[in-house]
Amino acid sequence: MSKRTILITGGAGFIGSHVVREFVLKYPDYHIVNLDALTYAGNLANLKDIAEKSNYTFVKADITDAKHILAVFQEYKPDGVIHLAAESHVDRSIADPTSFVMTNVIGTVNLLNAAKILWDNNFDGKRFHHVSTDEVYGTLGENGLFTEDTAYDPHSPYSASKASSDHFVRAYHDTYGLPVVLTNCSNNYGPNHFPEKLIPLCIHNVLNNRPLPIYGDGKFTRDWLFVIDHARAVDLVFHKGVNGSSYNVGGFNEWKNIDLVKELCRQMDQKLKKQHGESAKLITFVRDRPGHDLRYAIDATKINKELGYQPSVTFEEGLSKTIDWYLNNQEWLNDVTSGEYQSYYAAQYL
Ligand code: NAD
Ligand code: TYD
Repeated sequence: MSKRTILITGGAGFIGSHVVREFVLKYPDYHIVNLDALTYAGNLANLKDIAEKSNYTFVKADITDAKHILAVFQEYKPDGVIHLAAESHVDRSIADPTSFVMTNVIGTVNLLNAAKILWDNNFDGKRFHHVSTDEVYGTLGENGLFTEDTAYDPHSPYSASKASSDHFVRAYHDTYGLPVVLTNCSNNYGPNHFPEKLIPLCIHNVLNNRPLPIYGDGKFTRDWLFVIDHARAVDLVFHKGVNGSSYNVGGFNEWKNIDLVKELCRQMDQKLKKQHGESAKLITFVRDRPGHDLRYAIDATKINKELGYQPSVTFEEGLSKTIDWYLNNQEWLNDVTSGEYQSYYAAQYL
């Protein structure tokens, strides 16, 4: 029997690189094809430890280019697709919504079309796994959790584009019978996270003695999951999820932004042997994000009960591992914060 080929999109990005590593190392019998356009957020250095593995291939391609995507499908003939490629940062979506529509909506439809053409109604052993976000559900008040039945109510251009892509994935299942699964995960953190997002931005700024910008009053709440635990959930749902279903992924781990940043500062003071309270002096309240969702919180009961999923680390452990990774990989941090990052940072914060 020939090897099973799995096409992973966005595999050079933050979460995608952990998913690629999980699959390349855990499934030597699979051929893993990583398709990525290498935007500012894509970085092959994230995968240098597995780049030479014989079951791994990298293909540079843009999912907005329908012809090229179909050609890649026809060349590699994937049995499975795990789709992570996206524009992923809310603040950038506020500045430039159209690129989010192009990649997140049109790009997803291009992949669905290519899978539909290649598989041509022979769906045995085939699977299209769409990786999405809890942000499609909109915002919660002080109480309650997002379940898989919560109505979609996106507010940012980013979440609107992801919600739209989720609807297209379901539509291809309902209309054409495409075998799909979806995961909607809470905020991730961990190694290789681009320092435009809250946690790596604060680690980078503590290291450079720069202000830690907290939007609004800092009481906005997010539910955080260690990225390797997200990759494990993707593996589980890709292999065991029920066709046509979606699964919320999270670790019941809510933090108000200000409390999270204080915990990050506490751990960094210890690791950098600074006086207790020194890093927290950098905390600076800044203008709020327009349309800022108050609270996200995932009810992960379905994936826990039906697939036996449990996160492997507590938040304090995961955060400690994350800070250690950045302390040991300052060259990575310097590389990704030179160039385009400087103009992004100036426009967003200065
Ligand atoms: P990221 O921004 O770190 O990486 C995105 C990757 O996609 C990059 O490698 C980039 O080069 C690639 N890409 C972008 N546009 C492309 C295009 N047109 N064609 C091909 N490749 C392209 O994102 P991430 O944080 O790793 O998120 C990955 C996925 O997980 C996204 O779909 C995101 O919506 C979802 N998600 C993210 C989080 C989170 O907390 N970061 C939480 C839940 C779900
Ligand atoms: P972020 O990491 O951008 O993820 P998302 O917007 O997808 O949840 O932001 C996490 C939270 O931190 C969110 O409430 C916005 C807030 N935030 C700040 O307060 N300051 C910052 O500089 C950034 C980037 C985010």
